[in-house]
Amino acid sequence: MNVDQLISSPDVEEDDRPAASRILSTLIEASPLAIVTFDPEGVVTMWNPAAERIFGWSENEALGTRLPFVPAEKQEEFLELRRRALLGEVFTEPELHRRRADGSPIVVSVSTSPLRRTDGTIYGIMSILMDVTAQRAAEESRARLTMAVEQAGECIVVTDTRGTIQYVNPAFERITGYEQMEVIGQNPRILKSGRHDAAFYRDMWRILLRGEIWRGTFLNKRKDGIHYEEDAVISPVRDPSGQVVNYVAVKRDVTDVRRMEEQLRQSQKMEAVGRLAGGVAHDFNNLLTAISGYSDLLLHRLPDYSTLRRDVEEIRKAGDRAAALTRQLLAFSRRQVLQPKVLDLNAVVTKTGEMLRRLMGENIELSTDLSPSLSRVKADPGQIEQVIVNLAVNAREAMPDGGRVTIATADAELSPSYAAAHPEVRPGPHVLLSVADTGQGMSDETQAHLFEPFFTTKERGIGSGLGLATVYGIVQQSGGHIRVNSTADRGSTFLVYLPRVETPEECAQGEDQPLLPHPSPGTETVLLAEDEEVVRRLAREILSGNGYKVLEAGNGREALLLSEAHRGEIHLLLTDVVMPKMSGRELGERIRLQRPDLRILYMSGYTDDAILRQGVLEDRVLLLQKPFTPEGLARKVREVLDSA
Ligand SMILES: Nc1ncnc2c1ncn2[C@@H]1O[C@H](COP(=O)(O)OP(=O)(O)OP(=O)(O)O)[C@@H](O)[C@H]1O
Ligand SMILES: [Mg+2]
Repeated sequence: MNVDQLISSPDVEEDDRPAASRILSTLIEASPLAIVTFDPEGVVTMWNPAAERIFGWSENEALGTRLPFVPAEKQEEFLELRRRALLGEVFTEPELHRRRADGSPIVVSVSTSPLRRTDGTIYGIMSILMDVTAQRAAEESRARLTMAVEQAGECIVVTDTRGTIQYVNPAFERITGYEQMEVIGQNPRILKSGRHDAAFYRDMWRILLRGEIWRGTFLNKRKDGIHYEEDAVISPVRDPSGQVVNYVAVKRDVTDVRRMEEQLRQSQKMEAVGRLAGGVAHDFNNLLTAISGYSDLLLHRLPDYSTLRRDVEEIRKAGDRAAALTRQLLAFSRRQVLQPKVLDLNAVVTKTGEMLRRLMGENIELSTDLSPSLSRVKADPGQIEQVIVNLAVNAREAMPDGGRVTIATADAELSPSYAAAHPEVRPGPHVLLSVADTGQGMSDETQAHLFEPFFTTKERGIGSGLGLATVYGIVQQSGGHIRVNSTADRGSTFLVYLPRVETPEECAQGEDQPLLPHPSPGTETVLLAEDEEVVRRLAREILSGNGYKVLEAGNGREALLLSEAHRGEIHLLLTDVVMPKMSGRELGERIRLQRPDLRILYMSGYTDDAILRQGVLEDRVLLLQKPFTPEGLARKVREVLDSA
């Protein structure tokens, strides 16, 4: 049945038939929509020109056939729709997938009605179809774009040409804390932190108004007032005529990245300063050993009534002060000789408390908050006391009008994410030692330089700026991490994290140095190896002054030759650690082959990997630290010789 047959069906009133049929056939011919009819078996009974255009089959090809326009996977859905239509249902499907004559896919929206005879029985189906392929593709691509923008990690802001915000994505909400509805219609200046001057924004607008892309970094402020740093690219958006209609800003929060970079720079700087300080301290130790040692010898030899004694005592005192400074520098440069033990920090804090109370003075309250189930750490007890004292003294100095110092301990876990944000931190179980005060706090500027040696805000003569440098070095060398929280006028808290040790070894409490009687004189033979002449002479004088026989060598090789040539017994090798050609350790090892019973005492002002692994003394190694006093040397030599 073609169009004419349809129009001249017996249902149309005889009188109106010519006019009505002309209108109808015009409508069907001219319709931009495909209008097609099928018999109940799906055979095409009408196929208008729009259907030809949309599907690609001509009327001749289509009529009387069952066209393969339904893809196999849609067959079931199609049969169901046809069943519904043949039962008399009228319906619209907005999106059906069909195929064209050339096999290409097409998306159509379809309205379907049953065709009825006058008696109401259904003899076919009419479908009106619209090609929505392009429309759907456009919608999909827009949805994809929207999803991408909505889910981008970068903050995206679209403004009109006057800068009024028209769109922000969820990343913007996340980063700034503002909700979309709060900022649409606003100007991005709500994010201003006040840290850029007017010229900054003027330059930006000058570039944008020229139609160019602006790139730069904003120091902005979140809704909660916290500042953040973002790298931004702002591009003009043009309509098809080339007119700028919008600006789009794509911005990335780089606060963390910049902080990491800053921290890395900082730790590199500390490393370099540390190396320098360590080198200086090493040379100083030899000189100071001589200055102090000879002063002591001189004092020993001068009669009590000598007027020179006062002068020598002054030299001695200056030597002591210089030695104290050198010790701090060495601590900072992590070149100290540490003697770590498994420690209960609570015991160290309690033990130090007595002295601290005296240090704190009247108007400062000292309280402790110690975790009863504290884990152990491995550290040098004397050094940890030093850390506590230095932090407590700083706390006192930050509270000239009085206040409270709280020393607390607790187990703590440093998370991998925390470690990732702090380059020098190893994640894992730690013990936290904190010293908090209610003092004046410190500025960001002070915090940035806190741990550098010689950084002080105190008057000359009050602060040397080595307190925290020492603390820093000790903590680092102990494998720990130090951090500070401080707000101006509201006090500071220093947090020291030391790695937890899990194996319960016997626990030291920080040893008291007993006051020893003057060492008894000796008769034994000592082989002395030291490349620094002043130190060697001093040591020889001290030893022979105490009755020892001394064989003197300027380096390791000489010492070995002396040992081979010497017929009698040698009781002790006293050797410097860092020597050119042959280190003290190598000398020790080789001489032991000749004389297995020989005792060895090392002296060093400096940790050296050859003998001291990472600055940590191996348990069996006996060491005398430089600078030493005549009495210190004599005592240590006696001790080593007397120990079984
Ligand atoms: N608890 C604190 N409260 C406020 N500022 C502090 C605190 N601790 C340290 N500071 C600041 O850090 C600076 C450096 O401290 P550090 O202990 O290294 O040196 P110092 O105390 O000035 O001198 P030194 O300790 O050598 O006598 C101090 O000058 C001070 O400005
Ligand atoms: Mg200090």
